[in-house]
Amino acid sequence: MCGIVGYTARKDVENRILNTLELLEYRGYDSAGLAIYNEKFQQVVVRKCAGRVSDLREKCQEVPVAGTCGIGHTRWATHGGVCDENAHPHRCGRVTLVHNGIIENYEEIRDHFGLGGELISETDTEVIAALIDKFYDGRPRATISRAIKYIKGTFALVIMFDDKPGVIYAVRNVSPIVAAYTGDGTMLASDVAALGGQADKYMVVPEYHIVELHQNAILVYDEKDQKVKPEFLEIDWDTTRDGKGRYPFYMEKEIMEQPEVIKNALCSRIVDGHISLETDGIPDPLLTDCSRIVITACGTARHVGLASKALMQNILRMHVDVEYASEFMYSNPVIDEKTLVIVISQSGETIDTLEALKYARRQGARSIGVINVKGSSIARESDYVMYTAAGPEIAVASTKAYTTQLAVMYALIGRMAVLRGNFDESQEKSFIEGLLGISAGVQNVLDRRTDIHRIARDLLEAKDAFMIGRGLDYTILLEGALKLKEISYIHTEAYASGELKHGTIALITENTPVIAVVTQHDIKEKELSNIREVQSRGAQLTLFVSEDMELSDQEKYSHVFRLPAMDDRLSIFPVSAALQLLAYYVSMDRGLDVDKPRNLAKVVTVE
Ligand code: AGP
Repeated sequence: MCGIVGYTARKDVENRILNTLELLEYRGYDSAGLAIYNEKFQQVVVRKCAGRVSDLREKCQEVPVAGTCGIGHTRWATHGGVCDENAHPHRCGRVTLVHNGIIENYEEIRDHFGLGGELISETDTEVIAALIDKFYDGRPRATISRAIKYIKGTFALVIMFDDKPGVIYAVRNVSPIVAAYTGDGTMLASDVAALGGQADKYMVVPEYHIVELHQNAILVYDEKDQKVKPEFLEIDWDTTRDGKGRYPFYMEKEIMEQPEVIKNALCSRIVDGHISLETDGIPDPLLTDCSRIVITACGTARHVGLASKALMQNILRMHVDVEYASEFMYSNPVIDEKTLVIVISQSGETIDTLEALKYARRQGARSIGVINVKGSSIARESDYVMYTAAGPEIAVASTKAYTTQLAVMYALIGRMAVLRGNFDESQEKSFIEGLLGISAGVQNVLDRRTDIHRIARDLLEAKDAFMIGRGLDYTILLEGALKLKEISYIHTEAYASGELKHGTIALITENTPVIAVVTQHDIKEKELSNIREVQSRGAQLTLFVSEDMELSDQEKYSHVFRLPAMDDRLSIFPVSAALQLLAYYVSMDRGLDVDKPRNLAKVVTVE
């Protein structure tokens, strides 16, 4: 969480810092700030405030700051409330810095070095600014090295020293920083998406290395203060971003992009009529020699794991566990060298997922990362990576990342089924035919989005909602409920329908909104009888049901939305588009900030 940026250039950087902070705002949007070295007055000027980058921009417009070297920050509060004082940058003596991460022992450092008297904010970050200032002897790299030896926790620190105008220093542990040459200088930021078309190559700052950003050079020093050659990677996705296009929110744009990105994720893995993971570099023995699979991830990505588990057990007949990444290493998971660990992450930076992966590898497991952001920490830590290639996902609520992660998992499962003898040639062929029809199925739902908008209107006043389904439908409902919760703030719970009468049905009364999904033909009758149980308690029922399923009691539903008839294993894709749209319209019609829901950040880099 928290977005950080730094520029040293030939022209003034204030506007560029603000523009880049806007690109990074999805990482946190409680408060924003910048610090620029003003050459005329030979001093660092700080502007910061609680609120959005737009508030900071207004503040800067009142009194602009001239200068060609500066740093910026957009915050997701961890230590200390949301107020101007706690916003970054923090300035102590000759040091100005911004930070992403958590300093676990900041109180200890504060007390040990007697820094308390110098602090204005309640943040862990300001303690580090004070510590660096205390140690500062005119040698920035030596000072930073000395200071970080005392720090426990994760950090990406971007630092300016008053007596080193035009130079920015950065160091990190876990929390990411990338650096790049721009046309007229150099920059650094928390992620590639922030480079925004200003660079075509970037470098990932190695952990505990110190980077010096000069107008004409990016210098990297290792832990022994030896200069090392930075390794630059091509930026091979579009970071120029045409904004929201004709859509009012990124979320809608990203929902609408799904047919295209799902197709890309699948087509690149179907070669000459067969599923191929050759471009991913995944060796066959990795998939044949494992005896069990553990999937670990957070939030939406974990829901992909749950759907994958259902499919893997069904098709591969393998033992699969899906674990919360945040609980993983504390639950003493059973892992050995025969375990294939699959980590799923859009950002590739979620710290819980990263730590779970590191733990699994220490236990001897082999790993595959299903990742969107190239060169991210989880991608670099995984033995093998399958990229989802969904392009930048900006809205906090994940949509196209979910469906492309699913698509990649389906390709992986299909390949495993062939290699492990679960699919013969004709089964592989029909599975591939199904995969190639997914985009059309999703498009079918998107084309009828006004019907979903109509359904959403009945949820606008709801305080609670329930979602019910069985089997694969239940896994997508977990994701649908998360979507509705996070962007519309309606308390929503997904239940396996058969489980309702073991307690939760007590909450179903007259007009309680219940959303049911029925796409699995083998359990249709059981599902419909669970639906009748809530109907008879007065629930206001909305049904998402496959178009090839007959309904004898259509009139008993508030709404019935027909889903395209597909292979049961694939209907999860159109259902997910429908539930994403439902959450989207409820949030929008409630007048909420769809892309930036309260208390959340897109990239969760703190445990
Ligand atoms: C869902 O809409 C959220 N954005 C969240 O649950 C997210 O999926 C989770 O934080 C994991 O993020 P990652 O995919 O970047 O690891």
